[in-house]
Amino acid sequence: MHNSIPAEESGARIGYIVGGGLRENLRVRLTVPAQQVQEGSFVVVESGEWLFHGLVTDLQLGATDPRFADEQSEARFPAELANLLHGQTLYTNLEMLPALVLERGPDIDSPEYPRWRDAIDAGLREQPRPVPVKTVPPHHAPVRMAGPGDIAEIFGKVDSKGNFVIGTTREQGHPVCINLDKFIQRSSGVFGATGTGKSFLTRIILAGLIHYNHASVLVLDMHNEYGFDDTASDTGMRVIGLKSKFASRVRVVGLGKGALVRGQAPDFNLEVAETDIQPEDIELLTRELNLKETTPTTLDALTSSYGRDKWFAGFKRLRNGAVIEDDSGKKIPAPDSVAAWANSVGVNVMAAEGLYSKLGRVFNLSYVVEKPAIDTVSEIIKSLEAGQHVILSFGDNVSDLDYLLVSNLLTRRIRQAWETRTNEFRSSKKSEPRPLVIVVEEAHKLLNREMASQTTFSTIARELRKYYVTLLVIDQRPSQIYDEVMSQLGTRVSGWLGDEDDIRAVLSGLAGREALRGMLAHLQPKEEVLLLGWGVPMPLPVRSRRYDDTFWKDLLGQTSSLPKRQSDDIIKELGF
Ligand SMILES: Nc1ncnc2c1ncn2[C@@H]1O[C@H](COP(=O)(O)OP(=O)(O)OP(=O)(O)O)[C@@H](O)[C@H]1O
Ligand SMILES: [Mg+2]
Repeated sequence: MHNSIPAEESGARIGYIVGGGLRENLRVRLTVPAQQVQEGSFVVVESGEWLFHGLVTDLQLGATDPRFADEQSEARFPAELANLLHGQTLYTNLEMLPALVLERGPDIDSPEYPRWRDAIDAGLREQPRPVPVKTVPPHHAPVRMAGPGDIAEIFGKVDSKGNFVIGTTREQGHPVCINLDKFIQRSSGVFGATGTGKSFLTRIILAGLIHYNHASVLVLDMHNEYGFDDTASDTGMRVIGLKSKFASRVRVVGLGKGALVRGQAPDFNLEVAETDIQPEDIELLTRELNLKETTPTTLDALTSSYGRDKWFAGFKRLRNGAVIEDDSGKKIPAPDSVAAWANSVGVNVMAAEGLYSKLGRVFNLSYVVEKPAIDTVSEIIKSLEAGQHVILSFGDNVSDLDYLLVSNLLTRRIRQAWETRTNEFRSSKKSEPRPLVIVVEEAHKLLNREMASQTTFSTIARELRKYYVTLLVIDQRPSQIYDEVMSQLGTRVSGWLGDEDDIRAVLSGLAGREALRGMLAHLQPKEEVLLLGWGVPMPLPVRSRRYDDTFWKDLLGQTSSLPKRQSDDIIKELGF
């Protein structure tokens, strides 16, 4: 008997190794009916002191003699013979993508075992941990389904610190964890076609992050889904908002003075000061506002005329097309006209007037004001630094213009603040900054190829965790996100995707893409996801945890986790 997984914690035997290799997958002869296994199942090969862990990527029917496969000869045979035929001549092979191997040590009853264990305890030998597969198990090594013990060994134990149950295995419903500390160390993504459950799963992850309290969360909530309670569009059921459960730790911010979010008053309102709008914020709207290529030149001239803080106000107060009559009765541009300004600084009048009229949409935004009643941006930063969480609801301002402008402006200010804090921390003047996760719905709007070079978001995604800020991007069209950003995403959680390009985008930069491609395309249309990437030990399809009353009870009702850990510690100290 080997030590690692007790019998009741390991899964049922399903077959044995008959071939394959590292470059191709391992082949396993099934000894159970094929229905008991499916694509994506987590299986374990037992090979002496080693356990190989992997995923089923394919199931194939085989025959030692093709004649018996082609004809329904069992009808002519007596029952025992027909049974034999199905076990021996006709068989099913499964293909297994080996992912990790774990040393489990010598047999627990063998004389080598205590020596092995002592060497580990004395620090002479490394604590066994799953490592990437570099060799193969021998012929006929037994293969079994992964049991809860195997899953806990690889994905982490449910009650260990930082581990959070994100779903269950599809066949037997064993819980599967992600590690939240790892999750926030790099940017991550939740993908899937519309209706696959991205927003629901994001609520679950955010609840986990807020409860765990190792990072602050800022949600750019374009559709007002995350703060207050909502109604599910398909079932009409009430969906609990994060504010309802974490009333004092989550602050809902509504965009614009007096804005309501789902009919409720937010904790405070966000108004943008004219001085906050930088020329880059406008360049970012090039596609949205259909700006001409002359725009950067005009913006440059504006900043030299009025200064980086005042250019927006200065430009806005000009009058487009205003004329006066000169002494001889001729119409000339009024001194406060756009044309007069353009002439005075040597900018093309048409270009300036064109830009002015296109910026009309920005000039008219009700939440962009000369002087906001309170400095909400600083307020948001302060809340986040103090360990609170902020959900910025866009309320009725649902156009892309609002989303692009406000998200980028806010994120830029926040990143600056975190950069300053990080530098202060590095020069050991201050305490370590609190990690921050910025959640972006419809991420491709901010992270597409065209904008990637200009937005703060892509900078954050690319620089990993240097400044303690990472992204959680949510999107139904991952192929529209700039690939350099996609390949940086650590943890990827993807629901069903139909589009080839989207599938390719989600898998970018990962090993075993071919095998995983099929797995993504064969997920259930709802509430099933494939866990992928650096943030998880190996890819695994899981049934998503359900977001319901039970979820909240499990999450918030678990007051026993600390005493349990303490009692474990005591037992360890006593030498058991
Ligand atoms: N984990 C879950 N728990 C409970 N219900 C779920 C879960 N996941 C999905 N659902 C159901 O599926 C529906 C669609 O889920 P959701 O709104 O999260 O989809 P989505 O991927 O965000 O879609 P879209 O891209 O259109 O925003 C929900 O209204 C809900 O009824
Ligand atoms: Mg959604």
